[in-house]
Amino acid sequence: MVNPRSADLVRKALEEHQLDWKVLISDVGRALSPAEKKTGQPGVSSRSAPGTSDSPRYLRYKEVNEFLDDLAKRFPKMVTVKTIGKSSEGRDLRVITISSSKTLGDDGGDIDPTDVEDKDKQDKQEQDREGRAKKKNRKGKAKPGIFIDAGIHAREWIAPATALYIIHQLVENATHTAKLTNDVDWHILPLMNPDGYEYCHTTDRLWRKTRSKTWWGLGCAGADANRNFDFHWREVGASWSSCSFTYAGSKPFSEPESRAVRDYLLANKEQLKMYLTYHSYGNFLLYPWGYTNTLPSDWKTLDALAKKANAAMVAAGSEPYTIGSSTNVLYAAAGGSDDWAKGVAGIPLSYTIELPGGNGHGFDLPASYIPEVGRHQMHLITVFAKYVGAMK
Ligand code: ARG
Ligand code: ZN
Repeated sequence: MVNPRSADLVRKALEEHQLDWKVLISDVGRALSPAEKKTGQPGVSSRSAPGTSDSPRYLRYKEVNEFLDDLAKRFPKMVTVKTIGKSSEGRDLRVITISSSKTLGDDGGDIDPTDVEDKDKQDKQEQDREGRAKKKNRKGKAKPGIFIDAGIHAREWIAPATALYIIHQLVENATHTAKLTNDVDWHILPLMNPDGYEYCHTTDRLWRKTRSKTWWGLGCAGADANRNFDFHWREVGASWSSCSFTYAGSKPFSEPESRAVRDYLLANKEQLKMYLTYHSYGNFLLYPWGYTNTLPSDWKTLDALAKKANAAMVAAGSEPYTIGSSTNVLYAAAGGSDDWAKGVAGIPLSYTIELPGGNGHGFDLPASYIPEVGRHQMHLITVFAKYVGAMK
């Protein structure tokens, strides 16, 4: 950001050094105010998730909890809400699990995205799946699971809103989304960094980190929870300095928010086959690694599945997403939750999804975009669920 009085000076300096520049947001002050414009519409029922009412809006922490509690109350067979930890300021970190008890039906088959032409193989997969389904139903064995978190970065509001949109669709629209819940269990943490999220609403719209206190109040509050995971911690793209946006924390897992996700993933690692983490912005589908420019041995699987999911979104009217390892298509940054989920917890399929933003809005995508972004993400996770549902 540049003060209007310094704009000329900065422009000259950039040109002098032959640096390309463009204006992304011409008036940040205007873009971020007034707050009422975007959080407004009092009287919208907390029962409606963002994107599902006539006037979509970004819910506050308290409203997110009310939304989850209401679903748990009305859909006790399908939904469980658990508190998996507390934030630094004592807010609940809540995971909703969505699991249909329904016997598996024919949803058109599970297709290996790397092998879409092979009809025999598809038939075989179909048979295997039915065989497993019967066994599973007798023994009550758990289905493969997909874990989603959103809002690890506080200001990326479209991320939690999209997670809530997905939850709403999976639960309230179950007749249409049955194919996503028949073969897969969902574990969704829609607000991973509630302290930062609330701080954005009350104080600083562009806050990114957690709100943990540093020792004796020296330095700045908060760490970047997506630099705080213990896998090549602080090796690259992360800061030592507490005032930096990418402060890695005082030690790996210094933040209660990243510890809660760690413990939940480890406790459920046998079941979980996929880890998705929602961020914004830039339209990226990123897979590991973020700490190195080398690729995991199974990167072709990750890449093919992402391409297939992207094609489904594009067919539904989405802008295409850029696909690749986060180091190679974005930048190197170690200590991310995606790298840790794959490298340490052993969850094979791990993606960071950078949702839309920018175009003059930056992180402050108007809430009117929530339904469209959510709808596109339903197409993406439909492809993912088909693939995961066919995994052993
Ligand atoms: N924008 C995200 C961040 O900076 C991208 C994270 C990608 N993953 C990674 N391990 N670097 O946190
Ligand atoms: Zn982010």
